[in-house]
Amino acid sequence: MPDDFEAMWASLAPIGRSASSGGYFRQPFAAAERELASWFEEQALARGLSLTRDGFGNVVAWLGSPGPRAVVTGSHLDSVLDGGAYDGPLGVVSALAALDLLVSRGFSPSRPLGVSVFVEEEGSRFGLACLGSRLASGAVSWDTARSLTDRSGVSVEDALAAASLSGPSSSSLLDGVTTFVELHVEQGRDLVDRPAAPIGVASGIWPHGRYRYEFRGSADHAGTTRMQDRADPMLTYAMTALAANKQARLADERATFGRVEVTPNSTNSVPSAVTAWLDARASSSSSLDELVGVIERQATERAARDGTSLTVTPESVSGAVTFSPELAARIAAPRGWPVIPTAAGHDAGILSAAGIETAMLFVRNPTGVSHSPAETAAMSDCLAGVEALADVLADLAGD
Ligand code: GLV
Ligand code: MN
Ligand code: MN
Ligand code: MN
Repeated sequence: MPDDFEAMWASLAPIGRSASSGGYFRQPFAAAERELASWFEEQALARGLSLTRDGFGNVVAWLGSPGPRAVVTGSHLDSVLDGGAYDGPLGVVSALAALDLLVSRGFSPSRPLGVSVFVEEEGSRFGLACLGSRLASGAVSWDTARSLTDRSGVSVEDALAAASLSGPSSSSLLDGVTTFVELHVEQGRDLVDRPAAPIGVASGIWPHGRYRYEFRGSADHAGTTRMQDRADPMLTYAMTALAANKQARLADERATFGRVEVTPNSTNSVPSAVTAWLDARASSSSSLDELVGVIERQATERAARDGTSLTVTPESVSGAVTFSPELAARIAAPRGWPVIPTAAGHDAGILSAAGIETAMLFVRNPTGVSHSPAETAAMSDCLAGVEALADVLADLAGD
């Protein structure tokens, strides 16, 4: 008997968990994430599934063998720095458990049915969200991706080689895949405000982008330099963070500076440089353009006042995604599940943009908290998610 949902969940729990925060550090191609990749392959093989892998670290485990009109479900196993247990792994573990449920019911798919794991969904190591699904679908070229570097200067190409992954090949793991369903923990509070809705269906994903802000000034002595004589990039950054917050609040949009690097990072020196990353999201591409345009303009004006300089570089921009309305309705309408948008990015968005008919199921999150060790979901809701996914797969792969 393969492990059931709760046993799989318990076996994953220690991998990459910080003893101090209880959060997860599962960076792509590093030890914990590679352990998870092996865990997935062991679980697949214990079920007699056949594995197809690409040279980027993406994997699909097939019930039977791959082929045309395939239906694939899955998610990711990497985490943000100090992330929660559910973001990603819930979709993978639920997919395996849903397959078990279908097999126990004697279901035999008439379309190939697979469980996928895409690598570096969070972009937490190389900065480009959904790197694995972008490479698999051709949304980013190998030439662009290979030289992206992590904080230690290690390139994607070198990280793949260190993990014994061969990089590009002539075929894609997605060849023949026409339908993709991703189950994911909800990363907000839409479902919890509807007590009868443990499961929701995604209508689409807000466009979002990541932008590197490099503020430069002049290093100087924290004691002897009069305030009016400084060119302090920290001040320009701080005022920019305030302006971004204010601007996003005006239209219920999102603007976050979650990562900052200070040079030389010394308590008694005015810094010479501050690099900060803006994550911005809005409900339409035009409102996102407007939001990031206003923030950059205000930052530039502030830099002129402070005697500092600013360079802004977009690192990763993802357009708006509308999931197949027909598929969402086919899944949600008979079951009475709500259809809701999300401002979180997902591999499902990349696959949808690549022309694959795509849907997402969300499992209720009682606090709405995500990208945090405090992220949680009730076991009863997770098990409802497995049932829901199994029903959806039976519907889609059985016709
Ligand atoms: C990933 O989860 C993101 O939306 O940033
Ligand atoms: Mn995430
Ligand atoms: Mn995720
Ligand atoms: Mn995501």
